[in-house]
Amino acid sequence: MTFSSSAGYASAPLRRTQFPVSLANSRAAVSPLVDAVAAFGTALDEPTPHGTCVAVRLPDREEAQSCALDAECGDTLLSSLLLPAGELHLDEESHLRSLQLPRQVLFAGGRLALRRALQSLAVAHAGPVLPDEHGAPALPDGLLGSISHTDGLAVALVSNSPDARAAVGVDVESASRPASLRIAPRILAPKELPSLGRLAGMSEHTELTLRFSLKEALYKALHPLVLRPIRWHSVVAHPAADGSCTLDWSELERQAGITMHVEARWREHAGYFITTARARLERGSGALTPGEHEAEGPRRARW
Ligand SMILES: CC(C)(COP(=O)(O)OP(=O)(O)OC[C@H]1O[C@@H](n2cnc3c(N)ncnc32)[C@H](O)[C@@H]1OP(=O)(O)O)[C@@H](O)C(=O)NCCC(=O)NCCS
Repeated sequence: MTFSSSAGYASAPLRRTQFPVSLANSRAAVSPLVDAVAAFGTALDEPTPHGTCVAVRLPDREEAQSCALDAECGDTLLSSLLLPAGELHLDEESHLRSLQLPRQVLFAGGRLALRRALQSLAVAHAGPVLPDEHGAPALPDGLLGSISHTDGLAVALVSNSPDARAAVGVDVESASRPASLRIAPRILAPKELPSLGRLAGMSEHTELTLRFSLKEALYKALHPLVLRPIRWHSVVAHPAADGSCTLDWSELERQAGITMHVEARWREHAGYFITTARARLERGSGALTPGEHEAEGPRRARW
């Protein structure tokens, strides 16, 4: 979500979706429907170390926002969101109808990405994937999943996992809308700040967007396990140029009284940062003994 307001693929331009945005042309709704379907095409379908990742192109946010001002245009857009032939479960459709534009566009994109990731994994899950009481997508036992969306792209990560003590997280941010450095001290812990700007080929602002994204993905993997507020500074993440991340989550373990194993990775795809994370509870509670810390080795996740 957060930093971007413009859709944009650096290497694969997004086809502009022409919704009937003005009151004057809101009746000419047939060809926009076709374009809307094109906008929900799959942009990425790849295995990652944390699950299968699928990205779906989204219609332009500003056009969707304009469309929301006109009831007829809104109805047309809603129909087009439901068009990708029965891909959404009826209960997901009902949930979508309860939302407002442009949130409907994001929800539809995220669920489509999730369904396509399930297909890619050859998982037959006929039921709906609705938000749980915390807002996370509720998948059946044996499946882990996470969703993120920003202007132009929705992403889902799904993993086949019998491990009920594990969770995954995904986040997507536009790399072309760098973050303001004013927010750096809020997002980054004091020990993370000195290294900001050292990632090759990236400005400080852009790297801050990446680090923000990593923490969002980490939050989505960690929150279902700790079920408590997670402070930005309680997880330290240093991305490396090869997509790996050095993580330190000992502060969160201390606060929550549990021990975990946590991994994260990042990549840039067509002008977007896509970050993934996986967390697993190691013990129900209590800190690792020094011997266990040693056995666990350095907390550097490279995949
Ligand atoms: C929950 C949160 C991560 C959602 O992120 P966002 O920027 O609003 O939007 P995104 O598009 O990236 O993600 C939205 C998706 O997150 C998922 N989500 C929402 N709450 C969630 C939770 N508690 N756990 C896991 N996933 C959650 C949902 O699937 C949602 O999409 P949907 O409603 O269409 O299903 C964000 O609101 C938040 O609370 N961030 C705080 C992060 C933080 O504190 N980090 C510090 C710790 S390292």
